Amino acid sequence: MTSSFKSIKIPLLVTMLGLLTAAAAGCGTSDPAPIAGEFDDRGRQLFTAKCGTCHKMAQAASTGTQGPDLDAAFAAGREVGMKASTIEGIVKAQVLHPRPPEEGFPGVNMPADIVTGNDLDDVASYVARYAGVPGAEPPLAPGSGPGAQVYAENGCGSCHTLAAAGSAGTLGPDLDEVIPGLSKSEIETAIVDPDATKAKGYENVAMPDSFDSIPANQLNELIDFLVSSTGSGSSGS
Ligand code: HEC
Ligand code: HEC
Repeated sequence: MTSSFKSIKIPLLVTMLGLLTAAAAGCGTSDPAPIAGEFDDRGRQLFTAKCGTCHKMAQAASTGTQGPDLDAAFAAGREVGMKASTIEGIVKAQVLHPRPPEEGFPGVNMPADIVTGNDLDDVASYVARYAGVPGAEPPLAPGSGPGAQVYAENGCGSCHTLAAAGSAGTLGPDLDEVIPGLSKSEIETAIVDPDATKAKGYENVAMPDSFDSIPANQLNELIDFLVSSTGSGSSGS
């Protein structure tokens, strides 16, 4: 008995030590690129929904151009040793009291207080962790196939629940429930022209109407992912 326990315990301990060593090594390295991070990071989801429409940032895979590229904004500071806590403070100050638009961004005002309280803490610490960090790149999406990546990079999960993508948003309908009742063309319309038809019970909540910018091939991958991952396979009737 005891000997068989021993033979199990020893490899386990070795594995754990291995993990600890790996973790410690990870902390000390100065060039840990690429840095991907977590998809279900709350700050990342909030950033995608509230900030990414105007700001480019590699880790968020956001492409907004109405405001400055946040990697570019903080890269130089980081290089000379600006601390994450300092960046966090700058982000918070900007969100609470946006600077009036400068030459580069005429006519665009960043609205004040887009996020507050805990949400602001989460967004600010998220930006502080990744903006301007060399090697920062979007994390690989949960779920399989290219459509999962499209789902994740467009922040669908911040508003929708979809088990296959590991998302638990509640602002919009639960996609595991509604997708099986929709045809592919209905799904497409719901994404690219959300005001055309409103989901039952959500008549007064808006889905952003910016997804008509998703390239056609990505849109098809996204729809295939939604259909296959909710088991509605043959889009029959
Ligand atoms: C409607 C577009 C818009 C949205 C949404 C928006 N911003 Fe901005 N943001 C801007 C503009 C425009 C500027 C540039 C202001 C200026 O000219 O100094 C800016 C500036 C910034 C800066 C300063 C960058 C620098 O160069 O110092 C930070 C940080 C920032 N925004 C973070 C955020 C965060 C975080 C969010 C989401 C909570 C957000 N922004 C949402 C438009 C936006
Ligand atoms: C900011 C929140 C938000 C984001 C981001 C968002 N949605 Fe929605 N979505 C909603 C809301 C709210 C509704 C219900 C109102 C409506 O039908 O337009 C909705 C409706 C839908 C519907 C129709 C459901 C039905 O029963 O008719 C589909 C499908 C859908 N969304 C898919 C997506 C996909 C895919 C993405 C990413 C490309 C996405 N949504 C991004 C909030 C969001």
